[in-house]
Amino acid sequence: MHTRHVIELSPSGKTFEAGDELLLDAMLASGLSVPFSCRRGACGSCKVVVTQGQYRAKQLAPDAPAPCYPLAANELLLCQSHACADMRLEIPGWSLDTPALEVEATVLSKRALSPDIIELVVMPDRPLAVRAGQYLKFRLVDGDSRCFSIANLPADGDGRLVFQIRRVSGGLFSETLLGDLEAGDLLQLEGPFGACTWQDDDAAPVVLFATGTGYAGIKPILLTAMKRDVEVTFYWGGAQATDFYERAFLDKLVIDHAHFHWHPVLATEGRVQDVALSHGHNWEAAQVYACGSGGMISQTRAQCLAAGLPSHRFVAEAFVPSGRSSADTLLGSRDGTWEKVGPRYSLDGMLAAREKTVRALAAIASQLTVGMTTGAALEMASQQLQAMGASHTWHPTYIRFGDDTVRPSREGIDPLRRLRPSDIVVVDLGPVWDGYEGDYGDTFIFGEAPLHHDCRKVLHEVFDETREAWLRGMTGCELYDFAEDRAVAKGWRLSRNLAGHRIADFPHALFGDKELADLEITPSEMVWVLEIQLCHPTLPIGGFFEDILMR
Ligand SMILES: Cc1cc2nc3c(=O)[nH]c(=O)nc-3n(C[C@H](O)[C@H](O)[C@H](O)COP(=O)(O)OP(=O)(O)OC[C@H]3O[C@@H](n4cnc5c(N)ncnc54)[C@H](O)[C@@H]3O)c2cc1C
Ligand code: FES
Repeated sequence: MHTRHVIELSPSGKTFEAGDELLLDAMLASGLSVPFSCRRGACGSCKVVVTQGQYRAKQLAPDAPAPCYPLAANELLLCQSHACADMRLEIPGWSLDTPALEVEATVLSKRALSPDIIELVVMPDRPLAVRAGQYLKFRLVDGDSRCFSIANLPADGDGRLVFQIRRVSGGLFSETLLGDLEAGDLLQLEGPFGACTWQDDDAAPVVLFATGTGYAGIKPILLTAMKRDVEVTFYWGGAQATDFYERAFLDKLVIDHAHFHWHPVLATEGRVQDVALSHGHNWEAAQVYACGSGGMISQTRAQCLAAGLPSHRFVAEAFVPSGRSSADTLLGSRDGTWEKVGPRYSLDGMLAAREKTVRALAAIASQLTVGMTTGAALEMASQQLQAMGASHTWHPTYIRFGDDTVRPSREGIDPLRRLRPSDIVVVDLGPVWDGYEGDYGDTFIFGEAPLHHDCRKVLHEVFDETREAWLRGMTGCELYDFAEDRAVAKGWRLSRNLAGHRIADFPHALFGDKELADLEITPSEMVWVLEIQLCHPTLPIGGFFEDILMR
C-alpha cells in the first residue's frame, strides 16, 4: 500500500491526505477549494509556502518545458510537486472556504435625510471586509435583489452598515419594502461587490463627482481621502436644494480640512463636470471617482479624459436600476457542460473584475518606456497588479515587444529584448480580484510605423466584427473561421494558437479547458473570452486583443 501523508494548511488547521499523486490533485480530491489554473507551472496560481515537510518535484517528460514560474526557496507549486512526508503549507491570499458572501443583518435604525432619501442602518451578523466605495445586494424574494452602496467605513466603527436610499417611484424596495422595515427586522444581504473603490494613490489630488444618492458611494472614498494629506474637491449634482442632504457635514469638513472643497451644483445652474472643468484642475495628475447617473458618468469621463486625465485614473459606478435584468435571465441559460461556474459567480463580480483589469492594463501600458526590457516590464506589471489588490494571476502576465508579438503565449520570449522608439507591444493580463478572474489584453504602438498602426486598427476591426457575429448567433467554432476570413481579407493572418477560453469565478480550471474555437454551441454571455491574435503574413509583427464576450 502507498504511504499517505497528512498535509496541514495553516492557519485554518484543515488537512488533506496525499500519496503519490500531485499535491494539487490530492487537494482537489479532498474537496477543499484550491487556487490553480494552468497545471503546468506557468501561472503561479497554485503557489504555496512550505513551513514544514519534504516534497519532490514532478518528473517531467524529456521534451516537456520546465516550469517557468519563479519561486522563493520556501515555496512550491502544488501542480508540480509530490509530498514525501507530512507537511504544513500556507496559501497566501487564499481563503479555504468560499468566502461567506451572504449575511443576515438586523435593522438598527431608519430616518429621513430629505423628503425622498432614507438612511438605513443595519448590523450584519458577522463583520464584512468592505473597501471604501463598495456596495451590497439586498436579497428580495424569488432571487431578485437591489444594490445599495455602503455609505460609511464599517471598519472604523462597530461594523454597522449605513445606506442612503432614494425613493424611486414604483420602486419595490425603496417605495414599499423600505417603508415597512422597523428596528429589529432582518435583511438578507450579499457582497460586498464593486470596483469603484479607493485606489491607494496617496500622492494624486482627488476629484469626486456624484449625482443624487451617488453621494453614498462617494462618501466612504471621501472619508478615506480625508485621512491622507491630499487635495480633495467634491462636485455634487442635484435637482433641488434638498438633494444635498449632507450639506452640514460637508461644510464642517471644509472648516476642519484646509485641503477640502465641495461645490453643490443645481441642475438649473449647470452640470458637475462643466463646473469642475471650469475650475482648472491638474487633470494629468488627478485621480477621479464618480458615482451616480449613467449620463453624468459617461460625459464626465469623456470630458476629463479630453482634459488630460489618464484613462486608468477614472473610476466610476453608475447607479442604474438594479432589479432582475435581462442579463440575469440570460445568465440562467448557460450550457450545463461547457459553461459551468463556481458558487460565487455573479454578473457584478465578473464586471467588477473586468473593469479593474481594464484599468490595470491602462496603468501598466502608461508605465512602458522606450529602452525598457521585457523582464523589467513584467516586474513593473507584477507590482502594479499587486498594488491594485490582485490576489493571484490565473495566467502569467504576457508582455511582448517587437518580434516577440507573433509568438504564441506558451513560447518563451527574450527577457532582455528592449522596447524600441518605433515598436509594437502586446500586454495580456489574467489577474484574480476578490475571487473573480479578470482577463484583458491589448496592443500598444510606439512611434509612427504605418504597419504597426495598421495591425492595431485591423485587430480591433476583426475583434468587433467577430463579436457582432457572436451576437448574430455563431458558434465558437464558426467565430474563429469567421475571424480568420476577416483577417485574411484585410491582409493579415489569424494566429489560431490563441483560441478563446472560459472565464468565471476563480478557478474556472475546475470546469475543464475547452477552447472557444472548439465550442459547437453559441457561447453564452460573460463566461467566455474572445481572443484575437493577428500576425503579418511575412514580417514579425503581431497584435493581440481580447475581452469577455458581453453585450
Ligand atoms: C452598484 C449600484 C449601487 C447603487 N447604490 C445606490 C445607493 O446607495 N442609493 C440609492 O438610492 N440607489 C442606489 N442604486 C440604485 C438602486 O439600486 C436602484 O435604483 C434600484 O433599482 C431601486 O430599487 P427599487 O426596488 O426601489 O426600484 P425598482 O423596483 O428596481 O424600480 C422601479 C422603477 O424605477 C426605475 N428605476 C429604478 N432605479 C432607477 C434609477 N437609479 N434610475 C432610473 N430609473 C430607475 C426602474 O427601471 C423601474 O421602472 C445603486 C445601483 C447600483 C447598480
Ligand atoms: S502554476 Fe500550478 S496551476 Fe499554474
